[in-house]
Amino acid sequence: MRLLVTGGAGFIGANFVHQTVAERPDTTVTVLDALTYAGNKASLESVAGRIDFVHGDIADLDLVDELVSGVDAVVHFAAESHNDNSLTEPWPFVQTNIVGTYALLQAVRRHDVRYHHVSTDEVYGDLTADEPAFTERTPYNPSSPYSATKASSDLLVRAWARSFGVRATLSNCSNNYGPYQHVEKFIPRQITNLIDGVRPRLYGAGHQIRDWIHVDDHNRAVWDILDRGRVGQTYLIGANGELDNKTVVRMLLEAFDRDPDDFDHVTDRPGHDQRYAIDATLLRTELGWEPRYADFRAGLAATIQWYRDNESWWRPDKAATERAYAAAGEQTLGSV
Ligand code: NAD
Ligand code: TYD
Repeated sequence: MRLLVTGGAGFIGANFVHQTVAERPDTTVTVLDALTYAGNKASLESVAGRIDFVHGDIADLDLVDELVSGVDAVVHFAAESHNDNSLTEPWPFVQTNIVGTYALLQAVRRHDVRYHHVSTDEVYGDLTADEPAFTERTPYNPSSPYSATKASSDLLVRAWARSFGVRATLSNCSNNYGPYQHVEKFIPRQITNLIDGVRPRLYGAGHQIRDWIHVDDHNRAVWDILDRGRVGQTYLIGANGELDNKTVVRMLLEAFDRDPDDFDHVTDRPGHDQRYAIDATLLRTELGWEPRYADFRAGLAATIQWYRDNESWWRPDKAATERAYAAAGEQTLGSV
């Protein structure tokens, strides 16, 4: 199979490319990535001789058309992906997540190429503590510019599938963790703070809940959907990993042999979603997918070790990321 992977220099896309090269030797991979602040060619260094890399924008209609004409399938990871950035400057989210998806859809439509759309559970908004987990039938209710633009892109995919017969599948996954995740995101930010001897930073009281899944489990599900998913169908991906943010910070501190209360509460995110939770019954029963990283603490320990071993990968972004948080007004709170 000839595969075009958009956003392959980002966190989940890079892990997908590594997994594909290792486990699917008969797949030819072309990565299309604009190398924004979130893309890093070093994430693909160890597979550089085994893939084609194209530096370009998914919203470039001519480039996308040419690349799509030469493949059997597209897996679309590229996006502006960080909620906090979408609150500071929403425009790149509209451009990449909506216009970029439009460009890909037009190309796969023209060339009748199979398309898989990688999305997020955040399109469903948030849940209270007692509400049932999201399913494929939960109504869309996004909260932030990030989740609203991802929701918009999902709706474009559904419309192109129904109106034009595009052979599309969609997946909406919960929060990922693992190697190659940018240091702006919650878990790598706190791991690299701890490596630097800096106290972790918890937004508000830290009672918000996220449903954590290891990136390799997410990517195995994407392959299962590509292989055996029903065209037109949405699949939710999650590994029953619900934890509140404070618990995760305390686990990280313990893993570093530090006092579990040695963290700072900082300014909360405006409009902060309270809880995400995924019901992945359809994926499990129809496609037989099961997560391999059942133990979050073990997955976290492996991730910490990866950041310890790969300081040269994250160090160049660390200071600028912390400066951006400070410039956006993040402040330590005395009490919450
Ligand atoms: P990321 O920010 O780490 O990587 C995004 C990649 O896309 C980068 O390499 C960047 O250079 C590239 N990119 C951005 N704009 C582009 C453009 N206009 N043209 C070409 N390339 C461009 O993101 P991620 O965490 O790897 O997320 C990948 C996908 O998975 C996104 O669609 C995201 O919405 C979705 N998702 C992420 C999570 C998560 O926890 N990170 C969970 C569920 C779904
Ligand atoms: P994040 O990794 O930004 O993912 P998302 O917004 O897609 O869930 O944040 C995960 C959770 O961690 C979210 O509830 C916000 C919180 N958070 C902190 O408490 N401190 C931080 O420094 C960051 C970046 C996030």
